[in-house]
Amino acid sequence: MRFSISAVVLFASLSSTLATPKHKRGAVKPRRTRSLLINPDAFPDLPTAQEASAVAADAGLNLDDIQGDVLIGMKKNRELFYFFTIANAADFKPKLSGSILPLITSTTQLLDVSTQPETALNIAFSQTGLTALNVTDSLGDSLFSGGQFKDLANLGDPSATQWVPEFAGTGIHGVLLFASDTDDHINTAVTNLESALGDSITKVYSLQAGARPGAEAGHEHFGFLDGISNPAVTGFTANPMAGQAVVAPGTILLSETGDATTRPSWAKDGTFLAFRQLKQLVPEFNAFLTANPIVDGNLTAEQGSDLLGARMVGRWKSGAPVDLSPLVDDPALGADPTRNNNFTFTHSGFTLSSDQTHCPFSAHIRKTRPRSDLGTPEDAAHHIMRAGIPYGPEVSDSEASSGTTSTERGLAFVAYQSSLANGFHFLQQIWANNANFVHAGTGADPIIGALAGAQRVVGGLDPTNSAKTTTLTTDFVVSRGGEYFFAPSLSAIASKLSV
Ligand code: HEM
Repeated sequence: MRFSISAVVLFASLSSTLATPKHKRGAVKPRRTRSLLINPDAFPDLPTAQEASAVAADAGLNLDDIQGDVLIGMKKNRELFYFFTIANAADFKPKLSGSILPLITSTTQLLDVSTQPETALNIAFSQTGLTALNVTDSLGDSLFSGGQFKDLANLGDPSATQWVPEFAGTGIHGVLLFASDTDDHINTAVTNLESALGDSITKVYSLQAGARPGAEAGHEHFGFLDGISNPAVTGFTANPMAGQAVVAPGTILLSETGDATTRPSWAKDGTFLAFRQLKQLVPEFNAFLTANPIVDGNLTAEQGSDLLGARMVGRWKSGAPVDLSPLVDDPALGADPTRNNNFTFTHSGFTLSSDQTHCPFSAHIRKTRPRSDLGTPEDAAHHIMRAGIPYGPEVSDSEASSGTTSTERGLAFVAYQSSLANGFHFLQQIWANNANFVHAGTGADPIIGALAGAQRVVGGLDPTNSAKTTTLTTDFVVSRGGEYFFAPSLSAIASKLSV
């Protein structure tokens, strides 16, 4: 067994950790001076470990027992998704408790640079993975038990032929999520873990992902800052930002306040992870914007194209919401977390149900979080914690000039929720793909809406003519498939999954 020094330190802390139901990861010897997370100024600050622990104590939440990726959101620098099958459950179980669990990074541990490991590790299992471990309790989520492949048509995916072959079916048992500041750190962690796990698992597929370079860090491949608006979770977020949705912990975590479904006791503080590999046709998207600028006497063609893109997303590339800055980007607004999420789509003197001069009803952020459109207080049932990250290279000069993608790039989409039917699946099927949400004739979401490959008719994109519709013959985001997983608490791994 070959392990790095840091892993040995983690092992040393394991014996005490496993002896108690609470995983005191804070006791791990400091080994980092630089965070493995990025945190653009425009994102709400994470709570400090002390702040989070005080808030969590009030809400009875055990942040030492919740895997670190779940409540942290889209702040990783580099990440590797390692999909595997369990080749030999009897061999794997002791390795799950002996070799994997000590390396699983808790929420508390990730919040403080001094307790962050060199490479953070999280794990999640599909239904077939739990079955392989002989864990037969129902988790109370039929979409999870059926697997994502069965859900393909409901999600609007064009066909299984677009899917990464390894996702087509129920063959993937689990995913290991490795996150760090460098690929070298991740590669070392993978090599070490592979040698410890031997033949007990088999790698099926992996996806290498990472924040985009330089000033694009935090921006997805179309160029828009991503990760601004994730919900504040009671018991974790010390100071919710203005306009940030505040959700009960049970919206994300099983068996916490707000989760009404009956679950086995060991599932508490676990969460469902929806993984999607979403290919983005960036040169094609840019060519579409260039060919269809919004025409307004005050705008150049380039500004008209930028405005069209901003209205499709609902935010400018800087993150500034079009609801607050309808005609031009406002980078200072985009960078200010106290203001960049503080809007509801209501404006005095404008009628909420018909005004699209500020933000189109079809804009991606309005389809996936309608704010005041569904009344006040805001709908509480359909929120997810997004923790995705871009994958694939930057657009090359030849791709940009030809307007055609030659190398795949996109978003490794990750969403956590306590109910897939209320979370990811709902947002995709019932809101984004539904042309009559939020009003008749709104059209599909121009970014992620998918109608089995059929063209999408989108309303409201032209602020000078709200009756005009735009027909999108290309899906700029194409599903390559994915899987539904359950990310258990650390104590569930120790007490249920590895025994
Ligand atoms: C390649 C695919 C996608 C791209 C390029 C994309 C891009 C973006 C961007 C730029 C934002 C605004 C920044 C922010 O608030 O973080 C955003 C927000 C959001 N997206 Fe996506 N997204 C994608 C896929 C999805 C999917 C599949 C879902 C769910 C089905 C989703 C749900 C959301 C939600 C809930 C928000 C926050 C809305 C709000 O609170 O205002 N996104 N996305």
